[in-house]
Amino acid sequence: MAKIKFSFSDLLNDPIKIMAVMYPYFLVILIGIGFVYIGNSGSLVQNKIAPKIDDSTNVVTDLPIEDAKIAAAVDLKSFTEINPTLVEKGKQLFQTACSSCHGADGKGDGTAGAALNPKPRNFHLVEGWKNGRKTTEIYATVQKGILATGMPGFDYLAPLDRIAIIQLIRSWMPASLGEPEPPIDTAEDVATLDKTYALSAGTKVPGTISVVSAEKLYQTNYSDRIGKINFTLAKLLNEKLTNPDNIGAKIFFKVTTNQQKALVTLFNSSSWQIGEKEFLAVIADNLSENGFSGKIFSLSNSEISNLFTLLKSVAV
Ligand code: HEC
Repeated sequence: MAKIKFSFSDLLNDPIKIMAVMYPYFLVILIGIGFVYIGNSGSLVQNKIAPKIDDSTNVVTDLPIEDAKIAAAVDLKSFTEINPTLVEKGKQLFQTACSSCHGADGKGDGTAGAALNPKPRNFHLVEGWKNGRKTTEIYATVQKGILATGMPGFDYLAPLDRIAIIQLIRSWMPASLGEPEPPIDTAEDVATLDKTYALSAGTKVPGTISVVSAEKLYQTNYSDRIGKINFTLAKLLNEKLTNPDNIGAKIFFKVTTNQQKALVTLFNSSSWQIGEKEFLAVIADNLSENGFSGKIFSLSNSEISNLFTLLKSVAV
């Protein structure tokens, strides 16, 4: 085989050959530029942002913080007679309190119930009920829950609200031929329940604290600092619920969007304690992050004073 002699001057005279020799270098440079470009392009182009997947265990239907009250006496007829107004009211209540587990239409397919075993009851089915499908039986279930299996008790729901939800649930039950279906309460069933819960006399409904706050109170009591914040929060809540004269406590819950954050803000600095002006200045700084809401700026001077005095007294 004849030896091919490489001649640089030949190469310079032939543009195609120049291309052939230079091509790999061009390629490497282009790829290099590409890497630099992508490296500088930011996380959006590089798809570095993790996809957002809803975690069903994080679906929390939260309770508003509410004062204790005396519930209106219940008309016992609502245990046995269908009342369309109550069914309508029940729909709203069901959406907030029950649908996260039992599903919007009561078929047991809510996101928060997906991981539970047994599954939340499908109210359209006749099978599988543990406590029974009569109004009085469901009433007791809602009161006590079935705690071992994840059905919470809802003793804070006013009796009439509970009956409204139960009327809705029973409107989903299949009507069968032959036996009365869904099963109807006897006068005796209703009388027994009335005796247990003093329904026709009017009942005291306890105040509620939001589930999230309650969970945080429970979980984070380890650390001293957080313990102190939660202790203060519990004190403020207790004042609000039990002492109607404590205007400052009422105002605190009105002007905060996240009470724990608000207290963290205050515990983090002491300059606000100098006076009301300084207090407002600390809050105005980063309002969206510090747990307070803009409502604080529509308070009257005397309301600000009430709030300031109260917070100063608890933040020691
Ligand atoms: C955190 C999830 C969850 C929420 C919220 C929830 N439930 Fe349940 N519920 C369950 C589970 C789970 C069961 C099945 C329990 C079992 O079979 O032991 C159940 C069962 C029931 C039953 C059937 C009881 C029986 O006799 O078998 C009724 C009635 C019921 N729930 C009513 C309600 C009502 C009314 C609400 C709202 C006020 C509600 N549930 C909110 C999880 C939930």
